[in-house]
Amino acid sequence: MTTTIDGKQVAATVIEAVKAAAGKLEKEAGVKTGLAVVIVGDDPASHAYVSSKSRMAKECGFTSVQHTLPEETTQEELAALVQKLNADDTIHGILVQLPLPRHLQSEPIIQSILPEKDVDGLHVVNAGKLATGDLEGGLISCTPAGAMVLVRGIRGGDLSGLNAVVIGRSNLFGKPMAALLLNANATVTSAHSRTKDLAAVCRNADILVAAVGRPQMVKADWVKPGATVIDVGINRVPAQERGEGKSRLVGDVAFGECAEVAGAITPVPGGVGPMTIAMLMANTVIAAYRRAG
Ligand code: GUN
Repeated sequence: MTTTIDGKQVAATVIEAVKAAAGKLEKEAGVKTGLAVVIVGDDPASHAYVSSKSRMAKECGFTSVQHTLPEETTQEELAALVQKLNADDTIHGILVQLPLPRHLQSEPIIQSILPEKDVDGLHVVNAGKLATGDLEGGLISCTPAGAMVLVRGIRGGDLSGLNAVVIGRSNLFGKPMAALLLNANATVTSAHSRTKDLAAVCRNADILVAAVGRPQMVKADWVKPGATVIDVGINRVPAQERGEGKSRLVGDVAFGECAEVAGAITPVPGGVGPMTIAMLMANTVIAAYRRAG
């Protein structure tokens, strides 16, 4: 029997723990956890993500601040806002939603966030800590951290002897995911657009993680029987059914056919997606505890 991994349910458990931790910190140390989310421009999908992040921060009992900047914001204006948030003691986590409009350079902005407030885990200090196996000292990128919680739920903490394949090598997901799996003793392959015979590489995976942004690219004959399949893709495609103008979300994995081969698989939506926000909240409350000493 294939298990459909319920990311919503796991995320709800994480959120309950975050609420309890934030409540305790406020009661015992008088520190209210604070998250600032910054969005530049008008991209509707980014606005939807940012609204759910801000809403969830409120639900967790945090101070939740959203800075919505116009498309024509300059590099200097954005940099100045980050400096202001860095210096603000009521803010423990800063997230600048990506992608930024094309005229802005994201890298200098991300690297200007104080590492201890970098709840996205994108600062080189945090990425470096993860790469060197220091999982406790830094902050880990939210989507891979969430995907890892789901993998551990199925496979346990130690992945010794298992082959893991991560398709995609972004700084936001693929690289940190590979590092987390390696740290858990899996034998890890980072696959990408230049990988030869990707299907054959994937068929070797006990844990197959797809983060490429190509709708339903992973087919049933790419999946090893019994594998754990984690789908990180969120692709909006036009609905085939009636209903003009409507679209639906699909992952990077052809869910129906792969579910017949996999041992466990995440759906889209309702798999990794809810975990990203939950781990962002977890990172923020961790940052607040560290700050409070
Ligand atoms: N855009 C899509 N996912 C993310 C994320 O996890 N963090 C940020 N900052 N931007 C994103």
